[in-house]
Amino acid sequence: MGWFEDRGGLDGTVAVVTGGAGGLGKAITTDLAANGVRPAVLDIDAGAAGALRRSLDDRGLDAIVRHGDVRDPDALAALFTAADERWGRLDTLVNVVGGTFRAPFADTAPKGWDALLRANLSHVLHACSLAIERMRAGGRGGSIVNITTIEAHRAAPGFAVYSAAKAAVEQFGRTLAVELAPDGIRVNNVAPDYAPTDNLAKLSTGDHALADADGVRIAFPMGRVGQVTDISGCVVFLASGLSAYVTGSTLHPDGGTYASSGWFNWPESGWANHVPAPVLKAMASGEGG
Ligand SMILES: NC(=O)c1ccc[n+]([C@@H]2O[C@H](COP(=O)([O-])OP(=O)(O)OC[C@H]3O[C@@H](n4cnc5c(N)ncnc54)[C@H](O)[C@@H]3O)[C@@H](O)[C@H]2O)c1
Repeated sequence: MGWFEDRGGLDGTVAVVTGGAGGLGKAITTDLAANGVRPAVLDIDAGAAGALRRSLDDRGLDAIVRHGDVRDPDALAALFTAADERWGRLDTLVNVVGGTFRAPFADTAPKGWDALLRANLSHVLHACSLAIERMRAGGRGGSIVNITTIEAHRAAPGFAVYSAAKAAVEQFGRTLAVELAPDGIRVNNVAPDYAPTDNLAKLSTGDHALADADGVRIAFPMGRVGQVTDISGCVVFLASGLSAYVTGSTLHPDGGTYASSGWFNWPESGWANHVPAPVLKAMASGEGG
């Protein structure tokens, strides 16, 4: 075993990953499993769950992959029970499930708000509660990682309730980190910006600005959008012993967009927190679209 594996201490541990079969979740499950973690996954996409199960089986990896809805308390509790029965321990919980639709807040109604709170917040509380009792009973501490978003840290026009729900998860995680610190249970958040996944494409405005190299260079200090492994790497770190003294924190795998908030790297004129005069002139003359 090398330095990294030794310090990481992940081999033989157990992780529950909600939404672990597709998008960012699949990368997280796959990377945890590659480090010797035995994953227990619940995913609403039956096809993705089946494909993940087969791919882990083919590599001889020990895993539980179930098709179900994390918003259903019974399905979530049953996943934890299955992990108890198979492995008798729980070391890591990764709350991946979340999502939104785009609409100005004034055009939305209580049914939509409730759906967003259920999709982004309520199941995180439930999963944490199920994990805490097991991690405490195990006496080895543990790591809880919530996938939030950069939109929990800035205004997000068109995504008001999603942004509020994810900010609630961030704040919940911070408080939990303090309450659980004496038990050695760490709680951290990972707040991506844009890392294309199949489902995320459905939220696109259709202008494809982030598929355009110039558009990406202007918006992302690192000059590229995220890859799913940019996020899964952060989760592996937070699950591992390498982050043993990190709790109540947020990692921002976003290529620098949280740091640059509001500043853009315009072609020719460079960094500015406003639209440069030549762009305004081009817009006025009709060249700017
Ligand atoms: N991809 C990004 O750029 C990005 C950016 C910021 C934040 N995020 C956050 O990261 C998380 C994952 O994003 P993603 O793009 O991978 O999304 P995704 O829609 O692909 O979801 C990941 C997985 O969760 C599963 N899932 C969705 N709802 C579920 C439910 N109710 N029960 C069980 N499984 C369910 C999906 O089937 C999918 O396999 C979300 O919380 C999202 O808000 C993503």
